[in-house]
Amino acid sequence: MADLRVNFAGIDAPNPFWLASAPPTNTGYQVQNAFRAGWGGAVWKTLGQPIVNVSSRYGAMRYKNMRIAGLNNIELITDRSLETNLAEMKTVKENFPNHALIASMMWETREEWHHGVKACEDIGVDGFELNFGCPHGMCERGMGSAVGQNPAVAERITGWVKEVATKPVIVKLTPNITDITVAGLAAQRGGADAVSLINTINSVTGINLDTMTPNPSVDGLSSHGGYCGPAVKPIALNMVSELYNHPDFHLPISGIGGIETWQDASEFLLMGASSVQVCTAVMHYGYRIVDELISGLSNYLDQQGMQTPTDLTGIAARKLRRWEQLDLNYKVIAAIDAEKCIGCQLCYIACEDGAHQSIALQAHTRVPKIKEDDCVGCNLCSLVCPVDECITMTPVPQGNGQLTWPEHPANPNRKQAALH
Ligand SMILES: Cc1cc2nc3c(=O)[nH]c(=O)nc-3n(C[C@H](O)[C@H](O)[C@H](O)COP(=O)(O)O)c2cc1C
Ligand code: SF4
Ligand code: SF4
Repeated sequence: MADLRVNFAGIDAPNPFWLASAPPTNTGYQVQNAFRAGWGGAVWKTLGQPIVNVSSRYGAMRYKNMRIAGLNNIELITDRSLETNLAEMKTVKENFPNHALIASMMWETREEWHHGVKACEDIGVDGFELNFGCPHGMCERGMGSAVGQNPAVAERITGWVKEVATKPVIVKLTPNITDITVAGLAAQRGGADAVSLINTINSVTGINLDTMTPNPSVDGLSSHGGYCGPAVKPIALNMVSELYNHPDFHLPISGIGGIETWQDASEFLLMGASSVQVCTAVMHYGYRIVDELISGLSNYLDQQGMQTPTDLTGIAARKLRRWEQLDLNYKVIAAIDAEKCIGCQLCYIACEDGAHQSIALQAHTRVPKIKEDDCVGCNLCSLVCPVDECITMTPVPQGNGQLTWPEHPANPNRKQAALH
C-alpha cells in the first residue's frame, strides 16, 4: 500500500494535503479539527500588520447548478492579533507535533519580517510561506501582489526572510502576472526553499442587475477581489507546469487552485507539484473532504504501482511541448456509439454551427452520422455530448510519419526554420 507521507522542502507531513492560508486556518480550534480530520498540514491565515475587514466580503460565480464554480473574496489577512495567533499556533504544534504547521506572513519592513520570523520560530512552526499574492487591499499598501508582481522586490524580501529563518521558506506566488516563471525565478534567487501557487486571481464575479452594483456589495460599493475555486484550476495547472518545466527552476512546488477531489490533487502532482493546498473546497464542504482525498490518492497510487505521491510529480508536465513541436500528421476523427446515443443531436448543432459541418442527421434514426472525410478531429462534439464515452475520438493512421510546423510545406518560413 502506498505511503502518503511527504517531505516537502524539508518539512515532514503525514500526507501531501495541506490547508491553504485562508479562513479554514483562522484559528487553533479550526486547525486542530482539521488535523483530527486527517489534513497533513496547514498554512495559517496570513500574519501581519493589524487590519480591519469589510462586511460583506465574498461573491460567487454560479454556473448552471454549481453554486460556487468560482469564489471571489475581498478579505484581507488575519484580523486577530499576532499574540493571539502565536499562542494558538503554539498549542496546535504541541498537540500535533508531526503535522506541518506553516506560518504565512506579510510584512512591510525588513525589521517587521525579521521580528515575525523569529516570533514564529520561537513557538515551533515548521516553515514559512511568504504571501506575495493577495490582490486587493494589501497591495495598495505596497504588500501582497504588489511584491509578487515586482521580481526585484520579491527577491529582496525573500532574502530578508532567509537572513533569519532557520526553517524552510515557501514563497507564495500571485497569478496576476504575465509570466509566472519570472516570479518563481526571483523567489529562487532570493533563496526560497520552495514556491506555492496560485494565490487568487483579480476578478469581479458578477453584477446585481437590480442595484447595478458589483458583488460583493459593501453598502452599495464594491472592490475587485481574488478569484479561486474550481474555475481557476486550469490556470493554476498551467502555471505549475510552466515553473516545473523551466530549465533554470529547481524548487519544489506546492500546488493550489480549485482542488476538491483526489483527481484534482493528482493532476497537480502530475503537473509538477509535490504537495497541494486547498481552500475553497473546504470552505464549501468542510474538512471531511480529506477522507476522499486520502483514500482516492492512495488507491490511485496502488493501481499505478507507485509508492509515494511524489512518484507522480511532473509526469504529465514532461509531456507538454511547444505547439510547433506537435505532430501535424496525427489525425483523429469522431465516432458515435449508436448503442449509447440518446439522440439529443447536440453534437450535430455544435458541429454544424460551431465547428466544421461534419455531422449529418439521418432520416431513419435520431443517431447522427459523422462525415468522416470532413471531420477535422477538433473534439467539440465529444465535449458537448451528454453521454460519457458515446463519442470517442479515434486515431486514423496516416502512414506518412511525423511532421511538425517547422518542416511543414505550408510554412512560409520552412527553409529558415529548418536552418535554426
Ligand atoms: C476568503 C479567502 C481568504 C484568503 N486569504 C488568504 C490569506 O490570508 N493568505 C493567503 O496567502 N491566501 C489567502 N487566500 C488564497 C488561498 O490560500 C488560495 O491560494 C486560493 O483560494 C486558491 O485555492 P482554492 O482554489 O483551493 O481556494 C484566501 C482565499 C479566500 C477564498
Ligand atoms: S450528442 Fe451524443 S447523445 Fe446526443 S445525439 Fe450526439 S452522439 Fe447522440
Ligand atoms: S470532431 Fe469536430 S469536426 Fe469532427 S464531427 Fe466532431 S465537432 Fe465536427
